[in-house]
Amino acid sequence: MKFQKMTALLLAIAMFGTVVGCSGSENNNNTSQNTESTVSNETEQSETKNSSATKTDSGKTLVIYFSGANTKSSDAVTGATQVQGKDGAVQHLAELIHNNVGGDIVKIVPSKDYALEYDKVADEAKAERDNNERPKFEDLGVNIADYDTVYVGYPMWWYTLPMIMYTFFDTYDFSGKTIIPFNTHLGSGDGGTYQTIKEFEPNATVKDGLAVSGSSVFDDSTAKTVKDWLNGLR
Ligand SMILES: Cc1cc2nc3c(=O)[nH]c(=O)nc-3n(C[C@H](O)[C@H](O)[C@H](O)COP(=O)(O)O)c2cc1C
Repeated sequence: MKFQKMTALLLAIAMFGTVVGCSGSENNNNTSQNTESTVSNETEQSETKNSSATKTDSGKTLVIYFSGANTKSSDAVTGATQVQGKDGAVQHLAELIHNNVGGDIVKIVPSKDYALEYDKVADEAKAERDNNERPKFEDLGVNIADYDTVYVGYPMWWYTLPMIMYTFFDTYDFSGKTIIPFNTHLGSGDGGTYQTIKEFEPNATVKDGLAVSGSSVFDDSTAKTVKDWLNGLR
């Protein structure tokens, strides 16, 4: 039964990819909300949660990402990751990018844990999107204002960015900064989300992003894909 459900969802996603994938996001209202509590006091706890953050000389480049694997419970993984059977796809892509560009790397950790089963997280994510919610995230442990270039990564969720990324873009002003998006998916490509980010941040420079299928992101060839994409940006 569970397998049937998962198969059905994957088939549905595959269909989204072919039918709707490149038609743009459905729900790109970027209404402002008070999300200050998500970025308030820098606590020791949040530094531990974001223990992947590493400081470098320039401190001007940040790789920041949300992955379905980024739950508060360190041993928990969502259905998305279970499908891959490995680390979160976006996390892996973020690490490949960080290996090349250096700077700091930070994960966006949701303040609530998403369900562990694929069909449940799918329902939760759909409800968030349909209700135009702004799910909160934990303190990032870094100050976005300190960075000039920000690589922003996320998985496709229901044809668009996960709503937590809407919270992210509502919370921070990227005016004058360069945003370089990247994402993983199972057929939708970027689904128009790079354009959505441009609309969120009209005063930022948003460069061409990189969309990698979650089913091939762990292939050895992805390292070269990332390198080629980065070289093309410069
Ligand atoms: C709730 C949910 C919704 C998804 N919606 C889409 C979608 O609309 N289009 C798509 O191509 N993939 C979709 N996917 C697949 C994910 O984008 C893909 O598995 C991604 O690689 C997951 O990355 P992660 O392991 O870092 O979370 C969805 C996955 C989940 C869990």
